[in-house]
Amino acid sequence: MKQIFCGFMTLLLAFGISACSAPKKVGVGAERIFRITHADSAGRMFSEIWTAPKLDSLGMQETSSEYFDRAMHMSDSRFTAIALSRLLTEFTLKRGEDAVLLNCFDDYQGILSLNDIYKYDLRLATKIKLVSGNSKPDWLNPLLILVPDGKRPPFQERFMTANIRELKFVRLNDYYAPLENIAGTSPKAQEGLEVFKDNCLFCHSLKGRGGNKGVQLLEAYDFSYKPDQIRMLGDFRDFHNKDNPDKQDVDQFVTQEKLERVVDFLKNFD
Ligand code: HEC
Repeated sequence: MKQIFCGFMTLLLAFGISACSAPKKVGVGAERIFRITHADSAGRMFSEIWTAPKLDSLGMQETSSEYFDRAMHMSDSRFTAIALSRLLTEFTLKRGEDAVLLNCFDDYQGILSLNDIYKYDLRLATKIKLVSGNSKPDWLNPLLILVPDGKRPPFQERFMTANIRELKFVRLNDYYAPLENIAGTSPKAQEGLEVFKDNCLFCHSLKGRGGNKGVQLLEAYDFSYKPDQIRMLGDFRDFHNKDNPDKQDVDQFVTQEKLERVVDFLKNFD
């Protein structure tokens, strides 16, 4: 009876999350679609519809990721994933695109340079299997970006994008241009911009770039006012720590000094 019930539950849930048995498995349902958006030969933007079986047909591998386990405070998680470099061979980029924008179901917006994709052999997972006892936050669904074992990119939020609904080829310079202008020539503000790009923008958008899972920081704080700067740093530590119920432990990626550079950058908006 339990088995029948579980099978029924699996059918019911779009992602096939098994509610009763361990380990927890999350896969993209065969019917689930996502989009890959790129310019056609005439330069018009064009969205292709993709499904998990179509992606699977390019060749998937079972894999683990120490990087993922470390950031999630988990162990022995397993994935079914494809090399992003393999997926990229399906597309001809003619307009200087050098990055992939990752739009997600939960208003998270990731971005990866093609350089990083090749350098760290980044993967795209269609199935996630967590060891029993690990609780799965709502956002932890495929498609998921993975750093394979043996590769050592800097430890950042950037390499943790999940819940992806669209991959879109873009130019890095165009994407970041409105923010580069704000950072200006101050080395401290520029360093803060880099920290923000690698760890915060995905959820706290600025100038129309990034996601909106988190609050608008420029509305919540007046960065020209010292007490507000201090309040922001305190709120960050209170919310984004290792006990965050939604596993948004961003604190692990940034030192106090790096956060102060973020303030130096955000001050420039006034
Ligand atoms: C995975 C998404 C995500 C990332 C990445 C992220 N945040 Fe957040 N952040 C949130 C969410 C969600 C909240 C809670 C929003 C709310 O209060 O409604 C939040 C809250 C905050 C708060 C507290 C706001 C308040 O009103 O209490 C601060 C400050 C903050 N984030 C700063 C940052 C900084 C700085 C970074 C980068 C170092 C960062 N966040 C990265 C999603 C994120």
